[in-house]
Amino acid sequence: KSLGKLPIKAISQFAMLILISNPVLQSICNPSQLGILCKLFGGIYTVIQTKAKITVDEWGENYFLIGPYFEHNVKTQVEVCEPPNPAIKKAADTLRGQGCQVFFGRWLIEGSPYVMLFDIGSAAWNLDRWKGEFWDACSIGIPFHDRDANDALIFGSLTAWFFKELSSQFDDKPNLIAHFHEWQAGAGLILSRYRKLPVATIFTTHATLLGRYLCAASIDFYNKLDQFDIDKEAGEREIYHRYCMERASVHCAHVFTTVSQITAIEAEHMLKRKADVVTPNGLNIKKFSAMHEFQNLHAMYKARIQDFVRGHFYGHLDFNLERTLFFFIAGRYEYSNKGADMFLEALSRLNFLLRVHRSDITVVVFFIMPAKTNNFNVETLKGQAIRKQLWDTAQSVKEKFGKKLYNALLKGEIPDLNKILDRDDLTIMKRAIFSTQRQSLPPVTTHNMMDDSNDPILNTIRRIGLFNNRTDRVKVILHPEFLSSTSPLLPMDYEDFVRGCHLGVFPSYYEPWGYTPAECTVMGIPSVTTNLSGFGCFMQEHVADPTAYGIYIVDRRFRSPDESCNQLTQFLYGFCQQSRRQRIIQRNRTERLSDLLDWRYLGRYYMHARHLALSRAFPDKFEMEPSAPPKTEGFRYPRPSSVPPSPSVSQPSSPHQSEGEDEDEDERYDEDEEAERDRQNIKSPFPLGAVQPGKKKQHG
Ligand code: UDP
Ligand code: G6P
Repeated sequence: KSLGKLPIKAISQFAMLILISNPVLQSICNPSQLGILCKLFGGIYTVIQTKAKITVDEWGENYFLIGPYFEHNVKTQVEVCEPPNPAIKKAADTLRGQGCQVFFGRWLIEGSPYVMLFDIGSAAWNLDRWKGEFWDACSIGIPFHDRDANDALIFGSLTAWFFKELSSQFDDKPNLIAHFHEWQAGAGLILSRYRKLPVATIFTTHATLLGRYLCAASIDFYNKLDQFDIDKEAGEREIYHRYCMERASVHCAHVFTTVSQITAIEAEHMLKRKADVVTPNGLNIKKFSAMHEFQNLHAMYKARIQDFVRGHFYGHLDFNLERTLFFFIAGRYEYSNKGADMFLEALSRLNFLLRVHRSDITVVVFFIMPAKTNNFNVETLKGQAIRKQLWDTAQSVKEKFGKKLYNALLKGEIPDLNKILDRDDLTIMKRAIFSTQRQSLPPVTTHNMMDDSNDPILNTIRRIGLFNNRTDRVKVILHPEFLSSTSPLLPMDYEDFVRGCHLGVFPSYYEPWGYTPAECTVMGIPSVTTNLSGFGCFMQEHVADPTAYGIYIVDRRFRSPDESCNQLTQFLYGFCQQSRRQRIIQRNRTERLSDLLDWRYLGRYYMHARHLALSRAFPDKFEMEPSAPPKTEGFRYPRPSSVPPSPSVSQPSSPHQSEGEDEDEDERYDEDEEAERDRQNIKSPFPLGAVQPGKKKQHG
């Protein structure tokens, strides 16, 4: 019976959404396991984890995530329980009956979604048979030595098997939607389609295999997109079978999506299918009740970073920490894809500019990129120990001083300040000062690198000579491990660290989305991105003057590398020339863009993909509204009403420029007014209600 236009909620009542993601993702430079319930690593993990909340809000008990089982992660992140849905339970029990271990529970993240985890090892004995079945389905052979691809096949075979058991329990088609992420999950999609299971399938690629490889090889990728012999390129890199799995998944899916427009273009050339929907990555935006809370947090966490810097540069603290800016780059260690090469070159130029202009600004730059290490190095640990020792010495002298002063005051005397400290006090203070002498420069890296002599960041630092000399205005610290509040060296979570910094710098060459600058934005921290990153293009499309909002977009598309590097250097130098007041104003503006990145808005693209998949898989039941695609094209976030386009070229009408660093008392007044004016211009970043759910057709 016709239900007319179905509200989204109604669809979720009779449909089931299953998200499948295999965490065995590999980065090229630094192979490591990452993903959904695996190690906290990379942007894909962030997509899946942050999207859970809005998806649970929409689908409630009918939303399940499927992934592989890792004992440690389940122990720490999953509350195991029995599936409340009898059909899911029966299907899982059938797999268990055949010797496969299946775990079910709630993933303890925001939204607490259900997760079902397959133990790949327990089903590995089927591998040869499943390879045969896979060959019959799509003529893709998987070599025995590629462990990740073999695991992906086992995982995919289990997924398809589970769907078969699940769907066989329904007389009528169950309206199952399965959303697969990345090629590692794709085998399940290919097999489900081959077996004609009644499942609406979506495949999302967050990057193409070949794109990542070709860019990492420093090939002029974007100008040659249509010239690659892709089969040959995949073959030469020994990833032909993986590439085939990816391409087959893309072509088998009812709906194919990519995370950005730029990846859609890449996929069209590398995978030969146009994306049906672009599904940009969002974040869960938490608004503080106090409007300027994020500014206070910046000051608080900056103080923690300053403390670390005091220890790291002990004996060389001849720069003013109040005139020191903290820049950082973070993410998987893909040296050129992430633009670490260009960043280092720009830092070398920035160092030169700051020196010749005799600037009193110092820039401390952190590289947070995981590499193989053999623990922290002694010198960095020693630095923090010395800082602590100095602190303790100061506290004990202060206490003695305080007591003597107090006693003198009780007697109605002003103590002789020359005598208030005795010889012992002076001795321990002198010893404390002596302990800060060092023979070496403050270290560039915080850890012992396993492959120090071949490390690309270290080698570039050696070449450009940024060794943390006293005369350098730019100091570099490589922290080759993700941050954690339990670290003995820099005990801060990544989020807190970002808040404490002044600028995130992500001049990527290959960056399908790029969460790191997006995360900076929602925390009110300005960042540098590029017009080759999904995020950068998204901001360029939706914000009239990104620079005014603290989003610096380097042109890496239409300029030579040297020109792009100069542009980056100018951005960095311009940033260093801002007064504190200008930085505060800029942070306020940056934070105002966060609504644009909220899953509450961006989630609609995923909704649209699901409706489209339903209408294609079950055309007799669902049809798309002609106006269905969410419309955001043409929308642009206006300039801040009291400009300046770039803070470094401030105009009289702009928030007052000042050279002083300590006049931020009335920092908020103008900004609040400006924010209010702008808010009135923008009722909502996107016109709400643009998504029309599928319409149920009369049938039978
Ligand atoms: N990240 C983290 N801890 C760190 C540094 C980074 O969890 O110490 C996260 C960061 O929050 C971001 C992700 O790593 O969500 C990197 O994602 P991005 O999309 O920028 O790059 P990818 O790694 O996917 O290439
Ligand atoms: C925040 C705090 C201010 C502080 C400022 C420092 O805005 O609310 O009290 O002065 O941060 O800014 P800076 O850019 O110098 O770290």
